[in-house]
Amino acid sequence: MDIGSLSGFGLRRRANLHPTLETPRLRLRPVVREDAAAFARHLADLEVTRWLARVPHPYRLSDGLAFVDHVRHAALIGSAVTLALLPAEAEEPVGVVALHGLDGTPEFGYWLARPYWGCGVMTEAVGAALDWIHRSLAVPTITSGAFVGNEASLRIQGRFGFKVVGRSRRECQALGRDLEHVDTRMDWQAYEKAART
Ligand SMILES: CC(C)(COP(=O)(O)OP(=O)(O)OC[C@H]1O[C@@H](n2cnc3c(N)ncnc32)[C@H](O)[C@@H]1OP(=O)(O)O)[C@@H](O)C(=O)NCCC(=O)NCCS
Repeated sequence: MDIGSLSGFGLRRRANLHPTLETPRLRLRPVVREDAAAFARHLADLEVTRWLARVPHPYRLSDGLAFVDHVRHAALIGSAVTLALLPAEAEEPVGVVALHGLDGTPEFGYWLARPYWGCGVMTEAVGAALDWIHRSLAVPTITSGAFVGNEASLRIQGRFGFKVVGRSRRECQALGRDLEHVDTRMDWQAYEKAART
C-alpha cells in the first residue's frame, strides 16, 4: 500500500490516500491506468464537461491517460485523493470524486457520466467520500462550488453542509471561456449539522 505524506494546516499526519469505499450501489476506488479509456469515453460528452473547469473538449484517450498519471502522482506526493466511481458489480468507472489541493486549499470536485444522472448516484458517492475524508484527513475546511446553473451539483453540496461564500469568474476549458462560478465552503461543524437534518 502506498502511503502519502500529508502536511499543511499546522498539522502533520500520515494518510492513506488510496482508500476503497463501498456504498449500497457503488464502489469508489483509486484510479488505475486502465480507467483512462472509460474516462475518455464519458468525458467526450460536452454536457458533462461544460460544467467542469479544467477538462478540455474534445477529450481524447491521451487526455484520459494524462489525467490518470497526474492524479496517481498527486496521491503519491500527498496533494490529492482521486477515486474512480463504479456501479457495485461493474469493471469500468462511470465517474470520479476527488479532493485536490491538500498541500494548500483543499477543493472537492466530481463528475458522473450522463446515463447515470438523476438516480442519486452522486449524492451517495459524495456522502461516502466526505465521510472518509472526515474520518481520515486533517482537513478543517473544504472548498467547492459550481458554475451558475448547475443546480444538481449545488443541491448535493448543500445537503452536506457546503455554504455559498461568494461568486467568481472561472475558466471553463471545454467551452473555452470564463463563466460565473458559485463558490462554496464547508467545515465539519456544518457537515455534522447537515447530517442531523
Ligand atoms: C452534477 C452531477 C454530479 C449530479 O449527479 P447525480 O447523480 O445526477 O445527482 P443526484 O441524482 O444525486 O441528485 C442531486 C440532487 O440534485 C437534484 N437535481 C437534479 N437535477 C436537478 C436540476 N436540473 N435542478 C435542480 N435540482 C436537480 C436532485 O433532485 C437531487 O436532489 P435531492 O437529493 O434533494 O432530490 C451530474 O449531473 C454531473 O456529473 N454533471 C456534470 C459534471 C458536474 O456538474 N460536476 C460537478 C461540477 S461542480
